[in-house]
Order: sequence, then C-alpha cells, then structure tokens
Amino acid sequence: MNDLAITQNTQELERVLNILISKTVEDPYEPLKDLVWPDSVPTDRYWMSPMLMSTQGTDIDKQLTEAQKMELSRWEFINFCSLNVTGIRELLVEMTGRLHTPGFELLSEYLHYLIAEENEHMWYFSKFCLKYAGKIYPDRALAMSGFEEVDIANLMIFSRILIFEEIVDFYNRKMGKDELLPEFVQRINWLHHMDEGRHIKYGRLYIELFYKQLQAKYPPAKLREIELAIKGFMQISVQKLYRREMYLDAGLNEPGKIRKALLRDPQRAEFNRSLMAGTAKFFKKIGLFTDDLIWETDAAATA
Ligand SMILES: [Fe+2]
Ligand SMILES: [Fe+2]
Repeated sequence: MNDLAITQNTQELERVLNILISKTVEDPYEPLKDLVWPDSVPTDRYWMSPMLMSTQGTDIDKQLTEAQKMELSRWEFINFCSLNVTGIRELLVEMTGRLHTPGFELLSEYLHYLIAEENEHMWYFSKFCLKYAGKIYPDRALAMSGFEEVDIANLMIFSRILIFEEIVDFYNRKMGKDELLPEFVQRINWLHHMDEGRHIKYGRLYIELFYKQLQAKYPPAKLREIELAIKGFMQISVQKLYRREMYLDAGLNEPGKIRKALLRDPQRAEFNRSLMAGTAKFFKKIGLFTDDLIWETDAAATA
C-alpha cells in the first residue's frame, strides 16, 4: 500500500470537508475583484498593533520614541505580510503537488478551493508590501526536517503549514479588529482570518488522522524524534517574527543586537509561549507532544 494512503476511518474527514466546501462556496467575497486599494496607507498610524510588536514589554521598547515605534510597526507589518507570501508559496507548492495523487483522493476536491483562496491571499499580501513599502522581505532557507520516511515527511509538511497558519491567524484575529490601525490594514487582516479558520480546521483534522497511523507504525523513539522536529519548527517560525531587517529599516541602531536581545528577553518568551499555546495544546491532545517543553529544546537551526 502507498505510504500516504489513509488507513483510518475517514467518515468524519469526509463530513467536515463537505462542510468546508459549502462554507467556501457561500463566502461571497472575491478579493481579486472587490478589494479597493487606497493610493497610500496613513503613516501617522500604527500598522502593526503595539501589543503584537516584537519589542512589546521590553526595555528596548521603553527607549523608543512614539515616532520610532510607529515607524517600526510599519516594518513589522511588512515582515508579517512577507512571511505570509513566503509561507503561502510553500503551501501552494506542497498542496498542488499532492492534488489527485495516491493518498489524497479524498482531499483533492477541497484542496482546489483552498489553493484558490491561498492564491488570493498571496496576491494581496504581496501587493501590500510592494505598493506601500516597495519590497517583500525574502525567504530564508527553510530548515528541512530530514526524515527519509515518506509518511513522516508528509506529516512534517502539514505540521509546518499548520504552525504557520496558526501563528498568522493569531495576529490576523487581533489586527482585524484593532481600531488603532488604518482601516485597510484591519480589512486585509480580517479578510484573511475569515478564510483561515477553515484551513486550520482542515489541517488539524488531517494531521490528527494521519498521525494515528504513524503512531501505530513507528516505535516511541521515532515518534519522539517527530515531536522534537515539530517543536523545532515552532521555534524557527516564531524567530522569523524578529527579523533583523525590520529594525534596520526602521532606522534603529545595531539591529542585529536588538534581535538577539529580544530573542533572549523573558517578556518575549512569555509572549511566544502564548502565541503557540493553542497549537501546542492541539499537538498534545492528539498525543504528538508528550510534554509542554517547546522552547527548551534545541532548534535544528536558527532562522
Ligand atoms: Fe492564507
Ligand atoms: Fe490558509
């Protein structure tokens, strides 16, 4: 049998996929046609909610003037949009590559809808970067999980995508309703959030189902390796929110030092923990995480 074939009962998966498809069809909004782009976005407002900024709660933050914080918030939002662009690129490549291949017979119908939505998301996040900041921050080399087993590598890809989508949604949910932000920034965030709830539901459901069959197949030592690799993804994904170039573009001195100090800051560790709490809880619920230690494990690489 193909390693990616689903051997579990798929009744619930089929039921949920059908609901997700109907909900996607009911969503009347077509960003490519409907989104009205203002000529500019006000620069005397925050673009990233202050509570979500990478400096929030730290001594570095206290040393910044209001104008510097506002400037930094713009580059933090450009980084956030850039992470969406690069994350969605990986998602599109991986999901398109699975369409109508063995193991994805049941999922392919829904994947067509998901891919269509992600194409729209990548379009508006990239356009925002280019139109209002003149650039997209490039992707850094992705840390590969290194598993040779086809089914484990598959779980890794889905897990990495889920972690990415859950981080983004944490920000979208808050920024989509933050009236401190320009209306257009709120709008893009809310638009994205409206679609991502469905993608996260699908991702979680598939991972839960697929992990069950890996659990039955592999010894505990291998399952522990999977757990540590996924925790490593979490660390690397969060570190990407502290991109050196944002501090540089905001005109702050010693941007590399700022990044390092923030990554060591206990206040930030607290925020990072709450950012990943829901996702970690999910991995624990399905038995993939055996403990709550995420940040203490060594990342395979630093972003
Ligand atoms: Fe998306
Ligand atoms: Fe998505």
